[in-house]
Formats: sequence, structure tokens, C-alpha cells
Amino acid sequence: MEFDYENRIVGPEYAAEEDREIELSLRPKTLAEYIGQEKAKENLSIYIEAARRRGEPLDHVLLYGPPGLGKTTLAGIIANEMGVNFRVTSGPAIEKPGDLAALLTNLSEGDVLFIDEIHRLSRAVEEVLYPAMEDHVLDIIIGKGPSARSIRLDLHRFTLVGATTRAGQLSAPLRDRFGVIARLELYSSEELAQIVNRSAGILGIEIDPAGALEIASRSRGTPRIANRLLKRARDYAQVVCDGVLTREAAGLALDKMEIDALGLDAIDRRLLTTMIRNYNGGPVGLETIAAVIGEEAITIEDVYEPYLMQLGFLSRTPRGRMVSPAGYAHLGIPMPGQQRMDV
Ligand code: ADE
Repeated sequence: MEFDYENRIVGPEYAAEEDREIELSLRPKTLAEYIGQEKAKENLSIYIEAARRRGEPLDHVLLYGPPGLGKTTLAGIIANEMGVNFRVTSGPAIEKPGDLAALLTNLSEGDVLFIDEIHRLSRAVEEVLYPAMEDHVLDIIIGKGPSARSIRLDLHRFTLVGATTRAGQLSAPLRDRFGVIARLELYSSEELAQIVNRSAGILGIEIDPAGALEIASRSRGTPRIANRLLKRARDYAQVVCDGVLTREAAGLALDKMEIDALGLDAIDRRLLTTMIRNYNGGPVGLETIAAVIGEEAITIEDVYEPYLMQLGFLSRTPRGRMVSPAGYAHLGIPMPGQQRMDV
């Protein structure tokens, strides 16, 4: 059977229309409801409280980390806790300086402007953003050639919340203009189980603690995936078991989706087996892997590798990527020169 890459259920970008709506209903609205990311939460709660007491907008915030960890959710929470409007856009959506000018001039005092994938802003747009972030002004050029002149507009003070998968992708001048930089980490299975339980409660799904932990431990540290798997497993439990999401029902459902005990799907396994079969487990360059498995290098870096590295199945070395002994063991493939250890 061909693998459906577009709708890869553990891929953070996957989202059918109805899933999007459900995702919105599951998003926590306050820091108190937000599970995990304790470090980021603690810092943000102090900055938010201090800004509120001073009656000032919050400093600009940069959130970075792998996709699906709740950057947009956290940005929405910041706006909610500050009691201001929340405006959402993304780097690729802001094509021209004029697009950004339109967004900025429509903000009210203290509003949060969220720019997802902020590393994808063009240089020309970034140039407009700097004075807006620093001095709350907009410098616009009117006309062309010798008669062109620049006019300066005052803006309301606002908070920019930028999100990116890696802070290193951001230009240095832009990164330097954020007062708060928070890195989001992959979640532990226990945190994800709490999220699954919370979501099950909202969706009216009957689940037992072992069922929640089963889904959590196969969700590659990512709440967005945990919530999606919960929904799929619910359908399965309704049809096959008596509607209660037990460990057994969750396990069966996830096995059917070809998601293994550690949350790896067919693509993860193909990535590792390709490296093993074609390149003796590495080292092999990222671009080579990308070409062989037919995925973009950046997708491999941002989406697949963080979790495989967290599991200790893959390492990045100066000479390329390598599959670790644990990676071989998980796939049941003996390492060269080793006897197969049957489990
Ligand atoms: N849903 C998605 N992410 C969440 C989080 N971190 N806490 C609670 N619910 C969530």
C-alpha cells in the first residue's frame, strides 16, 4: 500500500478541516490550564504580571521549538492573560512591506501580533518591522525615484510574538529585538497523558489512565499529535471495543495506523532502514537521505529528527547522520559484526 504522505497522521502539518475545529476547542486559554513547558510558563507568568502592573504591553516574545508543541496556543494565552486582542499571521503570508504596514496600523494599544514561521519574512518586510518593534513607528516610502520621500507614522504600542522551529534560522538583528526568548521542549509521556485526559474530558470521551498513557507514549512528545491520535483511537474504540478507550483499544487502534510502541510511523522507520540498508547506518548527509526518501531536508530536520534524536536512535555528527545501536535494536536489525539479539 502506498503511504499517504500528505495526510501523515503523526506529521504536525496534517489537519483535516474538522480536526482543525477540534484542535481549536482543545486549546487552553490560560497559563493555569496549559500543561507542561514549566520553564517557559514560569518566566512568561512573571513577565505578564509585571507588564500588567506597569500598565504596559508585554515585551516582544520569540517562541521556538519543533512544530506542534503549542506555540500558537501559548501566544493566544499571552493575549488572553494581557486582556488584549490576538492577531494571527505568518511569515509567508506577509509578502510586501505594505502587507505588514496594514497589519500594524490596525492594531490597538497593547495588542498581540503573532507571526508564525517568522524566519520566512523577506528582508524588505523585516526592515519595516525593526522600527515598529523598537520605537513603534512605521517608516513608509511614498513615490519612486528622485521624488520618493519617507514619512513616519506613529503606531500603538504592541507585543510581537514570533514563532519559529529554530531560533538559528532567524536573522541576528531580528532575534536581538525580542526581549523574551523561550524555547519549547518535547513533552514527557506523563505530561502528554495529562493533555490527553484533559482533551478526552472536553470531547466527552471515556478513557482510562492506561489508555491515555498508551496514546501519550506514542505521540512523539507532541500535543498536536496526541490529540489527533486520541480522536482516531476514539473512533476505533467506539466500533471495536465498547466505547471505552482502554490501553488495549488504544494499542489496537495505533497498531492499525502503523504507529509503533514508541510512536514511530512508516516514514520514520523507512528513514532509519534506508540509512541502515543503503549506507551501513551512516554517517550519511542530510541531503542524501532527503533525496532517497523523497522528503525535504528541512522537513527531516524539523519534523522527524528531533524525536528520533530524543529517543537516541539517530545522531547528528560533523560527517553526517548516524543510526545508533538503539535504533538498530528497535527495528530488530542486527548491527554489522554483531549477533542478532532476539527479544
Ligand atoms: N493542548 C495542546 N497543548 C496543550 C498543553 N500544553 N496543555 C494543555 N492542553 C493542550
